[in-house]
Amino acid sequence: MLEVGCGHEGGVAPALAAAGHQVLAIDPNAPAGPLYRRVTIEKFEDPGSFDAVVAGLALHHISPLASVLDKLVALAPQLILDEFAWNHMDEPTIDWYESQHKVLVAAGHEPKGPSALSEWRARHSGLHSYETLRTEIDARYDVRHFEWRPYFYRWLEGPATESLEAGLIAAGAIRPIGFRYAGVRRETERSPAESL
Ligand SMILES: C[S@@+](CC[C@H](N)C(=O)[O-])C[C@H]1O[C@@H](n2cnc3c(N)ncnc32)[C@H](O)[C@@H]1O
Repeated sequence: MLEVGCGHEGGVAPALAAAGHQVLAIDPNAPAGPLYRRVTIEKFEDPGSFDAVVAGLALHHISPLASVLDKLVALAPQLILDEFAWNHMDEPTIDWYESQHKVLVAAGHEPKGPSALSEWRARHSGLHSYETLRTEIDARYDVRHFEWRPYFYRWLEGPATESLEAGLIAAGAIRPIGFRYAGVRRETERSPAESL
């Protein structure tokens, strides 16, 4: 398996290796070690091929997306993603996140996420939207699994925040921002316009 954008903490590569997979993880900021290579996907050269590409929170950062996906689809027949639909944050979702952040700080916690999502958005221009990601992915892969999931609990790190976020999503009070996707290479490639 090839993990793309494993980050400085090493991503899921150690868990995949522990589960018995042969794995290589790449990122310009990858940790040192035999599972890792410090390189971008654009510069990655490997003679082998892979069964699957795995990426967590990386594809929405990577430009140009189309040529990177062309490379990924040539490297492996399966794509497995844990991702973040940042552009789906609506007002109730933002209000809930920011109020939870305040409550946790008041209770003595230090959430790793920002206190104000508008500041986060100002610092992160140029990210791909969920719709752009799906359009480019669906042009190359057939979906085999898709689920919307809570996401902000990872930033808030509060006790029971994941179940609270999941409950509010289920009740329709806030939007799910996380998603998981698995797809297999399409036999015939569609243009992004055809997949809309
Ligand atoms: C938000 S972090 C996610 C890290 C990790 N996968 C996680 O879930 O914690 C995005 C990562 O993508 C990496 N990245 C961005 N562009 C990349 C590229 N062109 N090739 C490989 N990795 C890239 C960044 O270096 C960063 O570590």
